[in-house]
Amino acid sequence: MKKCFSLMAAILLVQLQLLMASAAIPLLQPATGLAASLTQTLSPQSLLSQSYYQNSCPAAEGIIHQKMQAWFLKDSTLAASIIRLHFHDCAIRGCDASILLNYKGSERRAFASKTLRGFEIIDDIKSELERRCPKTVSCADILTAAARDATVLLGGPFWEIPFGRKDGRISLATEADMVPQGRENVTALIDFFQARGLTILDLVVLSGSHTIGRSSCYSILHRLANYKGTGKPDPTLDIKYLKNLTRQCKWSSDMVHLDVTTPKTFDTQFYNNLGAKKGLLSTDQELFSDPRTSPFVSMFATQQELFSSQFAASMVNLGNILVKTPPGGSEIRVNCNYVNPRRSYANPQRKYSRP
Ligand code: HEM
Ligand SMILES: *[C@@H]1O[C@H](CO)[C@@H](O)[C@H](O)[C@H]1NC(C)=O
Ligand SMILES: *[C@@H]1O[C@H](CO)[C@@H](O)[C@H](O)[C@H]1NC(C)=O
Repeated sequence: MKKCFSLMAAILLVQLQLLMASAAIPLLQPATGLAASLTQTLSPQSLLSQSYYQNSCPAAEGIIHQKMQAWFLKDSTLAASIIRLHFHDCAIRGCDASILLNYKGSERRAFASKTLRGFEIIDDIKSELERRCPKTVSCADILTAAARDATVLLGGPFWEIPFGRKDGRISLATEADMVPQGRENVTALIDFFQARGLTILDLVVLSGSHTIGRSSCYSILHRLANYKGTGKPDPTLDIKYLKNLTRQCKWSSDMVHLDVTTPKTFDTQFYNNLGAKKGLLSTDQELFSDPRTSPFVSMFATQQELFSSQFAASMVNLGNILVKTPPGGSEIRVNCNYVNPRRSYANPQRKYSRP
């Protein structure tokens, strides 16, 4: 077990050095704190730290990594699903594990959450962490680290994670349905990202996660026939690819690969597909034609190293979206599916009645 850990640390270290070696690339940008209207982002630097669990739970990252690896060996498709789950968490109320709360009307029960997967992995990791370090590691931090480990398992880059997120106590399905679902225009995508302190560059590079994973046919049905009321399919869809998709999509619940060329490799082929009219989602395809996003698309299409380092930097930005919560509004959840039962706040009068 010890040996296994030091081997892992060595691998991670090598990858970290690779990441640092490419850190001179000018595009790397610090986490932005752009005025956020929907979510009030806090400066993550003041709240999060890479050594957050160093004393309270030094084994945390190792446990998360081991569990992710075991799940990945059983079902490698779960890695993409965990990355997407992390995006859906951070996109609504910041990275606070609000997507994991499981009751009627919660984000997880929203329409936009229907094809989210991987919840059982987070539960599994959490129960092991509760055994080893009770009430210490937040569900939001677990999901953040799991998404990083999923990326590495898929052959993508490694990055260091700032820890210390808290779990939220509010989760609303209506808010989860605000996450882009594949039919938006580029302006809507840019606005959505910018409202969360993320840039156009973050948008294009993080959309590169669609180099792996799958989509339900539901998300592309609007492209296959009568696109935007024209009575014809989407003209920006390659004819052969269109035929392929029409054949594969018998039901809206059928699944198709997001990257038709190299569906299981974490590479830049996704961007090359866009140039060949083979983007699956219309939101991805439009990144190629819109002048605000196309320069980044052509850049990543040809520069794998640049893609890797910027993906890592932008994932840190995504994971650093934090939202101001009222006092007592956040906690370290004991079970990621439910908020902790309240005790100390049961009698607020008592708390404030002292002279
Ligand atoms: C830019 C806006 C985005 C849009 C419109 C979008 C849309 C979608 C859609 C429609 C699907 C398929 C859902 C289904 O029908 O089953 C999907 C899957 C996926 N998305 Fe995105 N997405 C966006 C951004 C992101 C970001 C920022 C990430 C990660 C950082 C991400 C990671 C993924 C992954 C990995 C999958 C595959 C999931 C699986 O195989 O289970 N997406 N996305
Ligand atoms: C983009 O979508 C928004 C709604 O999400 C709409 O208000 C706007 O008019 C659209 N812009 C274009 C250029 O179609
Ligand atoms: C069509 O789908 C098959 C697999 O079903 C794939 O091998 C082929 O490359 C696809 N062709 C196009 C043009 O996308």
